[in-house]
Amino acid sequence: MGINAYGIDLGSSNIRIYNGNDDSYMMEKNMIAVEGKDTLFAYGDSAFDMYEKAPDNITVSYPVVNGVIADIRNMDTLVHYFINDLCKGSIKPADYYIAVPNDVTEVERRAFYDLVLDSNVKARNVYIVEKAVADAVGMDIDVKTSQGVFMIDIGYQTTEISLLSLGGIVASRLIKVGGQKFDDAIKGAVRKEYNLFIGNKTAEKLKVAMRDVQHTNQSAIVYGRDIVMGLPVEKEIDTEIVFESMRETISSIIDSIKQILERTPPELGADIYHNGIYLTGGGSQLVHLADMIADATGLIVNVSEEPVATVIRGLNCIMREKRFASLARSIEETK
Ligand SMILES: Nc1ncnc2c1ncn2[C@@H]1O[C@H](COP(=O)(O)OP(=O)(O)OP(=O)(O)O)[C@@H](O)[C@H]1O
Ligand SMILES: [Mg+2]
Repeated sequence: MGINAYGIDLGSSNIRIYNGNDDSYMMEKNMIAVEGKDTLFAYGDSAFDMYEKAPDNITVSYPVVNGVIADIRNMDTLVHYFINDLCKGSIKPADYYIAVPNDVTEVERRAFYDLVLDSNVKARNVYIVEKAVADAVGMDIDVKTSQGVFMIDIGYQTTEISLLSLGGIVASRLIKVGGQKFDDAIKGAVRKEYNLFIGNKTAEKLKVAMRDVQHTNQSAIVYGRDIVMGLPVEKEIDTEIVFESMRETISSIIDSIKQILERTPPELGADIYHNGIYLTGGGSQLVHLADMIADATGLIVNVSEEPVATVIRGLNCIMREKRFASLARSIEETK
């Protein structure tokens, strides 16, 4: 049944909006292209298509940086345009549920709330949902009765590690490590080992392709610019070098996971020990990552089936089901 509500997950790389009216969701790049001072040129995936290719008079940027809104004006514009597209041009009053990381300042938290009010989308009520809580509901965890849920969301610029109990957050850390750091490491290694300069998109493609080539010991072929000759070339890249380049970033994520696990109160440890930890976010799909976390912690790692959409799935359940109503709060009720 359609409900007049939207759920929004603003990521550092992707924006996702659940449309309660027709029970569908959209995902596009959380990106804007502005021509000159303030003329909207493109948004979402079409802005991303221009990224690294646009002429100087067009600025292509991400308004969310490290999980928080860094550019309020452009974020307002994006939310307005995406909602307007979903409503096919006639925005009607609706409720909004917005996922927010826990480990942010009061001002940063408030910005998510104000964003919905300021973006001219006729918000009736605006609710804040802790992102980790939405992730847990999105992974079908009985979050309101479980006494210990350990949730890890690895995104583009952030990894959020949270400990939940009885529907609330006990501890949470947002670290500035995610898929982008893997891409940077790959770029650095390819440059060093092959004298080859590759762009961000190529590095990301190489990372995502690892899953397929790793099993067959194949090498991957990429296009880039030879640093010595200055000319575009095609080169074969050893996947072992690609994987090794990411080890340091993987270790830093694992270290942070262990730190939070070590600080987990023993009363909450039993559920975590029995059920294992939960892993989601686009970056969680990195080849071998889940196994490495399992090895390092000695715990079962439950991997989300739809890692880029768990937050939005959770928001959808929270806005529809009465039993989850207490998980959404207006800004006055949040800490
Ligand atoms: N198969 C894959 N293997 C490795 N990484 C992947 C794969 N698929 C997607 N990713 C990475 O997932 C990241 C995007 O994930 P996600 O959409 O969860 O981030 P986000 O929510 O926008 O960012 P954040 O939560 O940090 O604000 C990108 O870095 C992308 O390269
Ligand atoms: Mg995210």
